[in-house]
Amino acid sequence: MATTLAPVLSAHWDAERSWTMETYEAHGGYRGLRRALDMQPADLVTMVKDSGLRGRGGAGFPTGMKWGFLPAPDGGPRYLVVNADESEPGTCKDIPLMMASPQHLIEGVIITSFAIGCHHAFIYVRGEVVHVYRRLLRAVEEAYAKGYLGKDILGSGYDLELTVHAGAGAYICGEETALLDSLEGLRGQPRLKPPFPAVAGLYARPTVVNNVESVASVPGIVVGGADWFKQMGTERSTGHGLFSLSGHVTRPGQYEAPLGITLRELLDMAGGMRGGRALKFWTPGGSSTPIFTAEHLDVPLDYESVGAAGSMLGTRALQIFDETTSVVRAVTRWIEFYKHESCGKCTPCREGTFWLAQIMQRLERGQGTAADIDLLLDLCDNILGRAFCALGDGATSPVTSAIQYFREEFEAGCHTPADVLFPPERSALF
Ligand code: NAI
Repeated sequence: MATTLAPVLSAHWDAERSWTMETYEAHGGYRGLRRALDMQPADLVTMVKDSGLRGRGGAGFPTGMKWGFLPAPDGGPRYLVVNADESEPGTCKDIPLMMASPQHLIEGVIITSFAIGCHHAFIYVRGEVVHVYRRLLRAVEEAYAKGYLGKDILGSGYDLELTVHAGAGAYICGEETALLDSLEGLRGQPRLKPPFPAVAGLYARPTVVNNVESVASVPGIVVGGADWFKQMGTERSTGHGLFSLSGHVTRPGQYEAPLGITLRELLDMAGGMRGGRALKFWTPGGSSTPIFTAEHLDVPLDYESVGAAGSMLGTRALQIFDETTSVVRAVTRWIEFYKHESCGKCTPCREGTFWLAQIMQRLERGQGTAADIDLLLDLCDNILGRAFCALGDGATSPVTSAIQYFREEFEAGCHTPADVLFPPERSALF
């Protein structure tokens, strides 16, 4: 398995004014679109299926298969909605991608829309990132001016309108059906699935909801071919991906690499642990994925291997924590986030995250009781699989995995505050 890669998505991020059309085209941008418009839409769907590309938003659902789920055309509209509501704690790949190379995403949007027969696509961007929203608006204007969007794109007879919409800053609106409700002007809360958006999505019409990085990966596949993409990564987790390293690491940032790379290799690229301290725990894919420890340094970061080791690849958001970090304090911060962001629609998540936060906070203060650890596990058991969407499940992951690996620190929370065990001033993070 290759562990190095000539960057694809991030190839020209360091170029001067990388976000402009001029720079994007100078680096080969829009070649994929020209090639795609000469192909049959069905062949594009087959190509993406053959590439093995899996959704980069976290769940890893096969992208081409999702496109293939759209029912046969019935003369009515069908939509592409790009999920740009990146909000998972630690996840910071789509926002840099859209800032550094918005045309990469827009080219992917046009090819994807052409492949699925969509004539009006949407990019739903997280409300807080006004700078990204502005950059996308400008980039879309540039694409219209160049004839890549609008009527009769590049003389192909294909028409596409693209709307950029900013949310209002709610984590739940990254859940695809809550996102669709929000886009329709409703309060963003998840819908019951099925029906999946592929069948009844935006305005109850067939809709593909794809993550930014998934869509931005499409032009490369069209130019390089399915086999080129498949030769990277592993057999079932193909291609390249953006790995976001944050926390106690010398050079935090985005590292593009084939799936299947290990944290040990990524840490080498990122200059190792900050201050040469020892790794204590880390998330393979954001805070919704069970934590790993130093014993997982060599787990290949692909869907299957991470799953077999007890976690999930998720968004490849590697939050790195060194030996100075209190795991109880870190988990408490994450749980406070989930409690705050729970949309309140279902009881297990609304009430469960509230109680998880109460218990974690008293453990952090050193005021827990001997029964609290079992109570936490019992609460998690009552949330997992019973919440309306993945938010509730995600909230249980850091708790159960942290107890699995660091039970003694939770036990210490019955008598000693986390700030005494792990003085915050020793740790740059909390
Ligand atoms: P999911 O597994 O339910 O669905 C994944 C995708 O596949 C969806 O688009 C869904 O519509 C589609 N799909 C699944 N089964 C289908 C079927 N039978 N027919 C048609 N389409 C089908 O996962 P979900 O709830 O969409 O996402 C959970 C993931 O989101 C987590 O693993 C987490 O890593 C990630 N996440 C990402 C965040 C971010 O900021 N990027 C924030 C929070 C969570």
